[in-house]
Amino acid sequence: MSGRIPQSFIEDLLARTDIVDVIDTHVPLRKSGKNWQALCPFHDEKSPSFSVSQDKQFYHCFGCGANGTAISFLMDYNNMGFVEAVESLAARAGMDVPREGGGTVRSETNLSEYHELLELVIDYYRCQLKEHPQAARAVEYLKSRGITGDAAAKFELGYAPPGWDNLISAMGGSDAAQQRLAKAGMLIQRDSGGYYDRFRDRIMYPIRDHRGRAVGFGGRVMDDSTPKYLNSPETPIFHKGKELYGLHQLRGTSPARLFVVEGYMDALALAQFGISGVVATLGTAATRDHMERLFRMTARVIFCFDGDEAGRRAGWRALETALPLLRDGRQVYFLFLPEEEDPDTYVRRHGPETFEDEQRYVPLSDHLLNTLKEGTDLNTREGRAQLIDRAMPHLGALPTGALRQLLIQDLARLARTEPEQIDPLIQRPAARGTQKLRPRPRHMPARGETMPMLPQIIRLLLRRPSLGQLVEDTKPLRTGPPGEVFLADLLDFIHSRPHITCAAILENWRGSAFEARLRELSGTQDDSDMDALDLEREFMGAMERLQAQRSRKERQDWLQGKRLEDLSADQRAGLRNPRPVGESDR
Ligand code: UTP
Ligand code: MN
Repeated sequence: MSGRIPQSFIEDLLARTDIVDVIDTHVPLRKSGKNWQALCPFHDEKSPSFSVSQDKQFYHCFGCGANGTAISFLMDYNNMGFVEAVESLAARAGMDVPREGGGTVRSETNLSEYHELLELVIDYYRCQLKEHPQAARAVEYLKSRGITGDAAAKFELGYAPPGWDNLISAMGGSDAAQQRLAKAGMLIQRDSGGYYDRFRDRIMYPIRDHRGRAVGFGGRVMDDSTPKYLNSPETPIFHKGKELYGLHQLRGTSPARLFVVEGYMDALALAQFGISGVVATLGTAATRDHMERLFRMTARVIFCFDGDEAGRRAGWRALETALPLLRDGRQVYFLFLPEEEDPDTYVRRHGPETFEDEQRYVPLSDHLLNTLKEGTDLNTREGRAQLIDRAMPHLGALPTGALRQLLIQDLARLARTEPEQIDPLIQRPAARGTQKLRPRPRHMPARGETMPMLPQIIRLLLRRPSLGQLVEDTKPLRTGPPGEVFLADLLDFIHSRPHITCAAILENWRGSAFEARLRELSGTQDDSDMDALDLEREFMGAMERLQAQRSRKERQDWLQGKRLEDLSADQRAGLRNPRPVGESDR
């Protein structure tokens, strides 16, 4: 392998990576306000000062000053080199690492362009549901399923009209536009060349990821034809096994419990009946990725699958997937529905009470023992031994802790033996490599000769890069001192990337003279309580003061070279009124 890893790939990789996932795999994180917390893995401490921000995609230890992006974390925690850390994150995200001048070929399109494109597609389908001449059928169908206008609006439901080229005509004006739509999963290429609409005559369910970005669609037919649902194919931004339908609506909340259901309709119906905290897998089994994500929001997860054989199988698979994750008081329950019902039909027939009734939740440990017991005759030694044999791999998968202990006790009672007899039989999972935790104090560069306004502005931009969109013209900054030229570079970088995060900014300047200062400014000050308006106001205020400092300095420079009588009338007027508009008292 040769050649540099292109910067655009690093940006894509960071957009596809969540630092909270990455760190949580190594250092279990707990939610604390908007951020995530843990005991710092880089120095010894008794109370947690290690903080991870999902917004910024950045970690920072208030104790030892360790900080950085997901890439820096792997480098420091696992002693990896930069390339190794990037490769490890890429493997996680299912991406190939390209090299400049050859190697893996990839598209030039930035991932955020796909998100923006799908945002427009959502609008288009929603609009069709309101305006298309044949939309009445779709509206009728939704009504027949009992979906209210409110629920349809909340879930942004739309309508893909019949026909092969509706979306193409509306949004595929050029070859390039059609290619982009195809890559985003919305068009299918004809063998004979050209494209046609993937979704035709279907109710459209937009799917957003946990950060609220549009990633794909599910589309349902309105009759009995097949396939009943068509979903977006795997695209650079859509991975079926990772997404959970409805999750983005819970952003920023910490619900007491979360329901996991199987279908779009189930999520919709429960929400409509006032049950909050419902997400749906997209017709796949609940994966470890799904559960890790859910457990980051809540300690209680309730699986409520369809009351048929497939639903029960999905439940058992969910149980097996959940076992290794049951630490720190995490709890999993099952809510079983009668044969032939799914959450959607059940809630419409019986109302929401069952779903809120905790008595009906079957704890995972009960479900485990009950299932293991099935078909074993506990009156015989053979039957009891069979039970123990069956239980061993499951107990082995559970982390050591109270739940495992209690299960061993119950199992021992059922098998008429002692817990001490069972314990040595448990198959332990291969021990996870334990990491050497080295304290790693970092030196903090002293505040240099930068002007006092500048660090504040940069700090705000790192906190919320989109603030940079408020500055239209960066040219005036380019004539200033190096710090201002840097600010101009930073603003231009942000302008061309509307969804950039703090982490992507840091990675862009990795290895440059600005890296250390940027990292320092990313972590300083806990401004998590600032709302959007405060941030905007503070940012614009700081920009104005910077501008004021600059014009003051320009005037001084100029005065040193010229006498008053050489000034034009305008310039003289300017000097009589030295405080530029917008400058506050200071
Ligand atoms: P269900 O068949 O339970 O769907 O499949 P549902 O949500 O209850 O739909 P209705 O009530 O019949 O309208 C569960 C999920 O499996 C995926 C979808 O995500 C669906 O919501 N699925 C199902 C598909 O992707 N394709 C299919 O053909 C069927
Ligand atoms: Mn259904």
